[in-house]
Order: sequence, then structure tokens, then C-alpha cells
Amino acid sequence: MGVNLCVIEGDGIGREIIPAAVQILHVVAPQVNVVVAEAGWDTFERQGSALPDETMQLAVDCGAVLFGAAASPSYPVDGYAVPIVRLRRQLQTYASLRPTNYLPVPTARDGVDLIVVRENTEDLYIGHEYTADNGHTGISEKVITRRATERVARKTYELARAAGRHKVTIVHKASVLLQSDGLFRKVALEVGAAYPDILTDELLVDTAAYWMVKDPSRFDMLLTPNLYGDILSDMAAAWGGGLGLAPSLSLGDGVALAEPVHGCAPDIAGQNIANPTAAILSLALLLRHHWGMHEAASQIENAVRVTLAAGFHTADIHFDGALSTQAYTDRVCMNLG
Ligand code: NAI
Ligand code: MG
Repeated sequence: MGVNLCVIEGDGIGREIIPAAVQILHVVAPQVNVVVAEAGWDTFERQGSALPDETMQLAVDCGAVLFGAAASPSYPVDGYAVPIVRLRRQLQTYASLRPTNYLPVPTARDGVDLIVVRENTEDLYIGHEYTADNGHTGISEKVITRRATERVARKTYELARAAGRHKVTIVHKASVLLQSDGLFRKVALEVGAAYPDILTDELLVDTAAYWMVKDPSRFDMLLTPNLYGDILSDMAAAWGGGLGLAPSLSLGDGVALAEPVHGCAPDIAGQNIANPTAAILSLALLLRHHWGMHEAASQIENAVRVTLAAGFHTADIHFDGALSTQAYTDRVCMNLG
């Protein structure tokens, strides 16, 4: 059996940026067999499920997924569950890696080189929500467990070691949320103590947000519960040059889920103007960290860097001289070397 990748475009610009990443994949790793599956709002409207059983099975069988984005309503819809959240939980991809490195675009900040590691299976995302008081009170349960914190913390320190990074900052709000974030802090510090070669420090999440804006170069790796990681990684993405450039990879024990940080961008969908870089760099993360194809990963990252440094870009980076999604992807392809 060869190497299989389950590809889910999803909604909106997912249908533009994921084909771009697949185009790159076919060049750098033609041996990878692409299996197409569907999920998202359109799928929900057609099939009554945003993540059909068949898609889930293909994702599990492949053990590696490239996911675009799905449109999710901001109000309850009977039978609708956010597909990416379900995928992360079912595949138990418990650690989401969200790196921000400087890229040669005017909107990026020089000197930034950090990785947010976001716990990916619990916190407020477990979906235990209900109303009381005849709908006048909304309640969401925040759950933090020792087991999930231990495994994401261990993964963070192992990655720090493997990547030659020197510091992990544990982010929490243990000063107020004594039971949940207090446990996250305690367990993360315990795990960190077993890695004396890596410096461990901690910040309250509001202070971390302050420093993320004020001086992001003070961060190396950040270890956070689910929701704080969601927010801080979008903030970090701004320093990397914007959401269109921000990749992520969710890792578990033996499975991986590559996904751009951004959503399905309905405001620009269908116009062939979306930036495919985040999806392309997510693919590079998958090649490096999941399949150990380091050369192919570097080939992609270098091609993106060279393309941007030469001034080729999509409209989110700079309106003047912007290329279409397809033309930009072709440029990256030409620079793969
Ligand atoms: P968004 O990330 O889709 O868009 C935010 C802004 O950034 C928009 O102005 C958009 O045009 C721009 N943008 C994002 N990606 C871009 C790209 N590759 N190239 C150029 N511009 C880009 O976030 P928003 O608008 O809050 O959410 C839209 C929908 O996406 C919602 O339905 C939300 O639920 C969904 N979403 C899905 C995610 C997923 O499935 N993983 C993650 C985040 C949001
Ligand atoms: Mg997010």
C-alpha cells in the first residue's frame, strides 16, 4: 500500500486553494495517492451531514488529511456539527502546530519565528452547550484533562527538541480559571520539568496577547489550551503577512490533518483571487512532520519564499500587480526547481 492523502476541499475558497496545493503535491511527491472526499455546509445541505460517514472512514483509512475550510453558521442548526472540529476529535489529532515565520512580503514583520501549539481536542470545543432559564442563559462547558494536556505538552517539547528550539511559553488564565486552566498549567509545567534543555516560562493569556502585538519576537514556542491557541495563532498570522499565508498541521499519534488557519472566506470565494500559500505551506508541514519527506517540504517552502521575494503575490498581500490564484500557483510551481 502506497502513501495516501485524503483531500477535502470544503466550501468557498477551499475549492480554489486546495486544488492549488494538490497541483504542487503532484510535482514534489507524485507517489502520494490522492483520495477525494467531501465535507462542509454544501455537503450538509445535500446529504444532511456536514461530515458524511464515508468521508470520516476515508480520513481514518488514509491517516493523512488535507482540509480546506467549511462554512459554519453562527447560530444553531439542527443536525449541523462543525466538520473540522469533529475531524480533529475523531482522528485524535491532539496537537495543532501553527508556525509563523517571516515571509518576504510588505505586511510581514521581520524577526518573527514562532510556533503556537494549540491543544486540539477539548477546552470549550467539546460542544457541551445548553441553555437554561428558558433560553435566557447560555452555558458552554470548558473541560481540561490531565491526559490531553500531558500528550500535547509532551508533543510540544519533543517538537521543540527536534527543531532545536529553546523556549516553551505555557499560556493560560489560571489566575481566574483555577480548576481548568490551573490543571493545564500544572500538568504542562510537570511535563516541561522533564526537558531541562528547553527553557519553560508561562504567561496569562491576556499578557500573551499583549506581547504578541507588542513584540512577537520574544516568543519561540507557545503551548496553549484550544481556544487561546485559536485566537493567538490568528494574531501571530498577522505578523507572518496575513491569514492567506498561515499554515497549520494537527498531529496525533500516527495521523495528521493539514489545514490553513483561515476559513472559507465567502467574501472572495469563486473569484480565483484567494491566496493558496497557507494551504501550500500546510502541505509542506504534512510532508515534513508526518511523512518525513524533508526535502520535498523544503522544496515547497523555498519555492514560496522565492516567488514572494520576486514580488509575485495575490491581492490580499497587495492589490497592485496581484496575480490570480492559478497564476500565482503556476509561479510557485515554476520555482520548485
Ligand atoms: P476567514 O478566515 O474565512 O476570512 C477572514 C478574512 O480573511 C476575509 O476577509 C477573507 O477574505 C480573508 N482571507 C482568508 N483567507 C484568505 C486567503 N487564503 N486569501 C485571501 N484572503 C483570505 O474567516 P471568517 O470570515 O471569519 O469566516 C468565514 C467562514 O469560514 C465562516 O463560516 C467560518 O465558520 C468558517 N471558518 C472555517 C474554518 C475551518 O473550516 N477550518 C476556520 C475558520 C473559519
Ligand atoms: Mg481559527
